[in-house]
Amino acid sequence: MIKVSPSIISSKLENLGNEISACDEAGVFSYHLDVMDGHFVPNLTMGPELVRAIRRSTKKPLEAHLMIERPDRYYKNFIDAGSDVLLVHQECVVDFRKLISDIRTEGAGFGIVVNPDTPFSKAEKFLEDSDILLIMTVHPGFSGQKFIEYVVPKIEEARKYIDDHGLETKIEVDGGVTDVTGKRIIEAGADIIVSGSYIFTGNIGERIRTLQGL
Ligand code: DX5
Ligand code: ZN
Repeated sequence: MIKVSPSIISSKLENLGNEISACDEAGVFSYHLDVMDGHFVPNLTMGPELVRAIRRSTKKPLEAHLMIERPDRYYKNFIDAGSDVLLVHQECVVDFRKLISDIRTEGAGFGIVVNPDTPFSKAEKFLEDSDILLIMTVHPGFSGQKFIEYVVPKIEEARKYIDDHGLETKIEVDGGVTDVTGKRIIEAGADIIVSGSYIFTGNIGERIRTLQGL
């Protein structure tokens, strides 16, 4: 069964508890929480308080996708709010060695994220220390965007590198994932798929089961 992580920002937030119950019932792997600061990306979304509310609504792992300029300043707020894994962009200007060690000291997992135009080589040196490599297939900032096809070879490249080096890092893909693009991603070697608008604009349970069966 393919591991699916629903992107909560695409859900009907006025009905969040029920949306999460539907996802839990469908057996999702984790929840993907998109944190945007209006600087690193041109949009604003959730902060730690919403993460805390989601933490109270499910026992599944929560991954916070930090699209913020200063993850070094805020990582602890998101861990304290109940995030299990923090996903940090390679494009951020921070001391990654220190940040990874600080996140691990707090007991959370770490994932490195690459934008569509960032080559895989930029993520290579982080892989040994990363639980997850998150490959973006849209430019971060908004849900409901079109899947960017030219990223697919990067997924294949990452799959080969991780297998050749015997690494444990899981490949996760985020952006424009549907039943159609999801199939391409799985064939290219993804372990976990994030999906937002596809899941939450239809029957949640059915859509999740479709993705799980790809
Ligand atoms: C984009 C976010 C994605 C997005 C997913 O900035 O990181 O997680 O919300 O939503 P869809 O699946 O609609 O592209
Ligand atoms: Zn995301």
